[in-house]
Amino acid sequence: MGRNFLTIPQASDFHICRNGINAYEVSDSLQSLKNFIRHINKLPFNVDFLCITGDVSDDGSISSYEIAKDLLSGITIPYYIIPGNHDNKANMAEVFSELSYLKNYKDSRIFHSFQEHGKKIILLDSVEPGKASGSLTDGELDALEDELASNHDTMVFLHQPPFPTGIGFMDNQSYMNRNRFLKILNEAENVLFVGCGHIHRVIMSRIRKINFVIAPSTAMQLDLNLNDDAPGDFVFETPGYLIHRLSLTESIFPEVMTHAVQITDREEITYPFNDNN
Ligand SMILES: [Fe+2]
Repeated sequence: MGRNFLTIPQASDFHICRNGINAYEVSDSLQSLKNFIRHINKLPFNVDFLCITGDVSDDGSISSYEIAKDLLSGITIPYYIIPGNHDNKANMAEVFSELSYLKNYKDSRIFHSFQEHGKKIILLDSVEPGKASGSLTDGELDALEDELASNHDTMVFLHQPPFPTGIGFMDNQSYMNRNRFLKILNEAENVLFVGCGHIHRVIMSRIRKINFVIAPSTAMQLDLNLNDDAPGDFVFETPGYLIHRLSLTESIFPEVMTHAVQITDREEITYPFNDNN
C-alpha cells in the first residue's frame, strides 16, 4: 500500500547558549531542547524529517552548536536547519558539517531545495549577519523563482516572516525584498505554505493566496501584547512545535494540515474520551 501522508515536524528557536548556560539568564533552553527531543521521540506515529527554522543558538558559539548537535543526534529522523538572526552561519556550518547545503550559497545566502515523495521543500536564508530584521537577496529570490517553476507542490521555510505580526518591536523591523518575495509566492501555483520562526509564538496568517505559519520556540515565547508600544518581553508559556501533514493522495483530506503541539510533562498520560463511560 502506498503512503498517504508526508509528515514534517517544524521546531524553532532553540536558543542554546555556550556551555549550556541559561539564555537571558532565566531560560533553561538546554533543558527545553531535551524536552522537545524526548517529546518527538515518543510520538505514536511516524514522522519523516524535522525542519528547524533558525536560532538554534542564542550566541552563535561553536559550543552551543556542539551541544545542539549532540542532543539532535538523539532523534531518529533526518533534520534540516536554516539560520536565524542569532545564528553564526560559519560556526553552524562548521559544526553541522554533514549538512553540506549549509555551504551552498545563492547570492551569499544559504539555499537548499530537495524533494520528498513528489513534494518540494525549499530552505531560504533570510538572515543578514548582524541584523535582526529579515531580508532576502535578489539572487536567492531568482533561485526561488526557478525552483517554483517546476510545478511541484512546495513548502518554503525561512526564519523571519515577511509581514508584521502585531508584536510591537518585531514589526518595526524593515524587510529587504519583502514585496518581491510575496509577489513570487503569489504568482506561483504550487506553494502549499510558508513556515517561519523568529516570533516565538504560533501564528497563522494568509497574504492573498499564500498561507503562512509561524512555529513557537521550544524554549521561551514572546508575550502576547498587540499594543504598538509593546516591549517585546518573553514569557514561559508552554513551549511547543508544529507538525505539518501533507496528503500524498487525491482524497477528501486537506492538501496540508498543521498541528500545534505543546511540550508538557503530562503528554504521556492518556485518558479514555468515551461518552459511554
Ligand atoms: Fe529566536
